[in-house]
Amino acid sequence: MNIPQLIKQTEEYVKDQLAHDTTGHDWFHIERVRNMAREIAGIEQADVLVCTLAALLHDVADEKLNPSKEAGLQKVRDWLEAQLEDREITEHIMLIIETMSFSGGGGAPMQTLEGRVVQDADRLDALGAIGITRTLVFSGAKGRPVYDPQISPRDESLKQEYRDYSKGTAVNHFYEKLLKLKDLMNTDHGRELAEERHAFMLVFLEQFYKEWNEGSE
Ligand code: ADP
Ligand code: NI
Repeated sequence: MNIPQLIKQTEEYVKDQLAHDTTGHDWFHIERVRNMAREIAGIEQADVLVCTLAALLHDVADEKLNPSKEAGLQKVRDWLEAQLEDREITEHIMLIIETMSFSGGGGAPMQTLEGRVVQDADRLDALGAIGITRTLVFSGAKGRPVYDPQISPRDESLKQEYRDYSKGTAVNHFYEKLLKLKDLMNTDHGRELAEERHAFMLVFLEQFYKEWNEGSE
């Protein structure tokens, strides 16, 4: 097996599959997750090939891009089986993609070291400045408001952080998911980066509420 060629072919396949996505699963997300997965894999001494391929393919089976989640997973499996003679690698990558993509951030723990590495890399891309941007883009694509003081009262203090605001706004997504992720990280390096990105999101929210209310007090 020619590994550099396999990775190159996988990159091309993923670029083609995600070419028209507007939901935050663009190629640059995949590239960042792949780079981060490779870095964490090195530190954790995980299998770099499995982490790289799983990172590249992790969003191709997404429900939002396929008729169903099963159809998406079958598409990835068919593609891997056509590329790889080694069934074990295919099974390992499929296990990672099946368990990480649809768990909504709080699902069952990943079963292998490589799965924990790729999940951390994907979660990191939901945090910090990039995570904020992706959340706003996703909300905009869905036609949802960024924030609504009627449903997230303006006197709500950040000291009551993580309380469940009412559904539907981009700001609400921070409380539903993003601010919970740092406590779900699997690896030391992932946790360290998540803490920095988490702190940045808290600063962002604080400033956001401050500006929102300025002039009205
Ligand atoms: P991924 O596993 O790559 O993070 P998701 O489909 O879960 O993919 O989300 C894509 C991006 O959109 C992420 O940055 C995520 O935080 C954001 N997102 C997902 N659901 C919502 C939502 N309900 N409101 C705002 N942003 C969302
Ligand atoms: Ni992703």
